[in-house]
Amino acid sequence: MGEKRIAVLVSGGGTNLQALIDAQRREELGGGVIAAVISSKAGAYALERAEKAGIPGYVVARKDYPSNQAMTVALVEKLKELSIDLVVLAGFMHILTGEMVAAYPNAILNVHPALIPSFCGKGAYGLHVHEMALAYGVKVTGATVHFVNEEADGGPIVLQKPVEILPGDTPETLQRRVMEQAEWRILPRAVSLFCQDKLKVEGRIVHILDSVLEKEVL
Ligand code: GAR
Repeated sequence: MGEKRIAVLVSGGGTNLQALIDAQRREELGGGVIAAVISSKAGAYALERAEKAGIPGYVVARKDYPSNQAMTVALVEKLKELSIDLVVLAGFMHILTGEMVAAYPNAILNVHPALIPSFCGKGAYGLHVHEMALAYGVKVTGATVHFVNEEADGGPIVLQKPVEILPGDTPETLQRRVMEQAEWRILPRAVSLFCQDKLKVEGRIVHILDSVLEKEVL
């Protein structure tokens, strides 16, 4: 099995990256090591978090490429150069093209701030997702960690956690609650399971090969 080398792809603030860094410090990443942080934007605060943690940071800027596809090809090249085993999209705001999925089949995890298949797909990212949930009037939302395939937010689901919507919520208060109660917990947990080879994908279904962890309250 061996130690897994993780690359975290980011575009912004990087609170999910921080949750992964903190989990690694507590030795809760299943032996995985965050070997690189790659940002699609120069100056993203996530890069500062990486630097503070002593993790090498790189920029593959979307604006330097004519298309998502050209950026994806550059990213794959960088990931292979760094001998990465697991790619984690943590607030990465671009849709990767087929080249990434072909290079890392069932080895890319994404965190999405809603209970997929609600409020997901093209255009559903960041604060917009919470605006959509509030506008629809759902009483429960949450977060999902899933494997990435060719379809935006369409890959096999690894973990989900529900979060209550409260009267008076704004997109901002809801985003914060979903992060605190769901994203920052299930993303490190999913990464840890992957790094211990405890995720087996069969079609759309992800089997968690750990009876204790599967039943544990997240
Ligand atoms: C998070 O809520 C993440 O789930 C979301 O953007 C935010 C990034 O925050 N990602 C998406 O919407 C992807 N479709 P962060 O930079 O503080 O982790």
